[in-house]
Amino acid sequence: MSKSFLVAPSILSADFSKLGEEIKAVEKAGADWIHVDVMDGHFVPNLTIGAPVVSSIRPITKAQLDVHLMIDYPEKYLDDFLAAGADIITIHIESTTKVDECIKVIKDSGAKAGLTLKPGTDLSDIKKYLPQLDLVLVMTVEPGFGGQSFMEGQVSKIDELKKLREENNYNYLIEVDGGVNASTVSKCKNADVLVAGSFVFKNNYEESIKLLKEAK
Ligand code: DX5
Ligand code: ZN
Repeated sequence: MSKSFLVAPSILSADFSKLGEEIKAVEKAGADWIHVDVMDGHFVPNLTIGAPVVSSIRPITKAQLDVHLMIDYPEKYLDDFLAAGADIITIHIESTTKVDECIKVIKDSGAKAGLTLKPGTDLSDIKKYLPQLDLVLVMTVEPGFGGQSFMEGQVSKIDELKKLREENNYNYLIEVDGGVNASTVSKCKNADVLVAGSFVFKNNYEESIKLLKEAK
């Protein structure tokens, strides 16, 4: 696993009137992945963007496009996001009864499959999928909005996922999403990838990304 954190700025906090420039700027500033928050107004009470936006940003960055689907029935939309050029697709355990099918579709296409859970969902609910996963995303806020406060009570999930990976030789990366900033990053030491929306886009991109990377 990587020694310093990988950093995935969430474009939810970017200026959408110049999204392409924003993505190029964070990539230049050291971003490893670009985190794309997809919300449907049903699974979460907010609406954001869909596959056409992923398709538009695909040619402008070499960074991995890390697509976080906060949508009901993700199985209906996987082909669209895969065709659009997503490198990693993460679905919510609470959003579908077809988790195995979704993981298979994503992996068969050559992309990486991630699974995530809301703060109120027990880690035990995703345990049976761990051997197949490339990524597990720990939500440290209620999904739906950027700029919320980090929920410290979720840190035990990060730590437990690292322990389970070591004990069982699993291969997933552990990603943390929500409220990650200079004050909370120290709680995430057992993770591999940090999503950061407001902390990166409301500060100097290079300084904030560097600070997060070097916090490990
Ligand atoms: C919340 C999203 C997060 C969010 C992170 O539903 O999944 O990716 O944009 O934003 P910050 O870093 O501002 O909490
Ligand atoms: Zn996210």
